Amino acid sequence: VRAVDIIQKKRDGHELGRDEIAFFVDGYTRGSIPDYQASAFAMAVFFRGMTAAETVALTESMMRTGEVLDLSDLPGPRVDKHSTGGVGDKTSLILAPLAAAAGAFVPMISGRGLGHTGGTLDKLESIPGFRVSLSLKEFRETLHKCGLGLIGQTPEIAPADRKLYALRDVTATVESLPLIASSIMSKKMAEGIDALILDVKTGDGAFMKKFEDSKALAEAMVRIGRGMGKKVSALITDMEQPLGRTVGNALEVKESVETLQGRGPKDLESLSLELAAWMLHLAGIAPGLDAARTRVRDALASGAGLRKFQEVIELQGGDPRVCDDTSRLPQARETVELRSEAEGRVAGIACRTVGQAGMLLGAGRETVDSRIDPAVGIVLHKKVGDPVREGESLMTLHVDDRGRLEEATRLLRQAVRVAREAPPATPLVRLVLDR
Ligand code: URA
Repeated sequence: VRAVDIIQKKRDGHELGRDEIAFFVDGYTRGSIPDYQASAFAMAVFFRGMTAAETVALTESMMRTGEVLDLSDLPGPRVDKHSTGGVGDKTSLILAPLAAAAGAFVPMISGRGLGHTGGTLDKLESIPGFRVSLSLKEFRETLHKCGLGLIGQTPEIAPADRKLYALRDVTATVESLPLIASSIMSKKMAEGIDALILDVKTGDGAFMKKFEDSKALAEAMVRIGRGMGKKVSALITDMEQPLGRTVGNALEVKESVETLQGRGPKDLESLSLELAAWMLHLAGIAPGLDAARTRVRDALASGAGLRKFQEVIELQGGDPRVCDDTSRLPQARETVELRSEAEGRVAGIACRTVGQAGMLLGAGRETVDSRIDPAVGIVLHKKVGDPVREGESLMTLHVDDRGRLEEATRLLRQAVRVAREAPPATPLVRLVLDR
């Protein structure tokens, strides 16, 4: 086989075989196939697409270029959640301890924030001392001791994806459904899990803004996971406004702790509980979804979820006292109120813009190398549908560096739309893909 023949076959719209895909992925990862051929291949896939069988083969090949964790020695089913990312999306910090407290093992490998979206690792690192870069041995030990572990991508996991993603980024081939789906799933399937619930976001703050695109991505990922013999379902959930009331790393940890204490905002609590219930359901821990919902609600109400979070924080080197006293988290130097100039109801909050404003304050990364400030961010006092009076605070900005405050404030002012009437509430879970 020659790489050029594989590129040509894809270019002409033919289906590639499993061996051809594996040959190409291995060759590219080892360096015997150069970047220019991989670029041509990615562009051919971009225009021609891939069949379901090809997409599964691509995912498996990328996964096999690295380590696939064998966690079969854990005494129970292993299950995770993956979200395609959004603004204020901190459900991982809530559902992972809840699912672990209810009997699941959760080997969670997460990412960092980029652009307007946040990342679980950045949130966790705002807890003083918390280490997200455990060795795989330490990760295993943590999982054995407390049922969950929360780490970042290691170089051993799906190296083909790392290399190909960087290439796609500079060859205008990121926005290809089979390439996105296989990229995400090659990393998730390397976690050695039995089951996975996907939270595919849709709307202004999501990676995929249009509902139909989110649905197509969810379907492709579900197909891949099932094609690899795992229990996988997807929820398509709303990202037209930030989830919960906080955007920014320590602020989001504080809100997660409050949610585990039973004092969280309703949207965040209900989505976290629902995703945790799906995890238990797919892992076969509860007999049906309703029983699973009861289990996670019990884990919340009894405080078992909060204790589990405290346990994993301590095991990973963090200060567990943040679960009793969130003032131990980093605090910004000053706060600035953004007040409403009109009276009425909040009719919309441009989600991506709020994420971008958070990034300008230092809560997110403009480029992969940007440094983030764990303390800064935004607390929303009003969500879509809420009544507001003139002069009332819409948001509190937590600020350390005033350098880009003016720009952030201008964006936030544009982001909130106050009108006489608010649109009818959209459901948080837009669609469930369970078959
Ligand atoms: N996230 C990924 O991990 N890969 C993609 O291709 C797109 C988003």
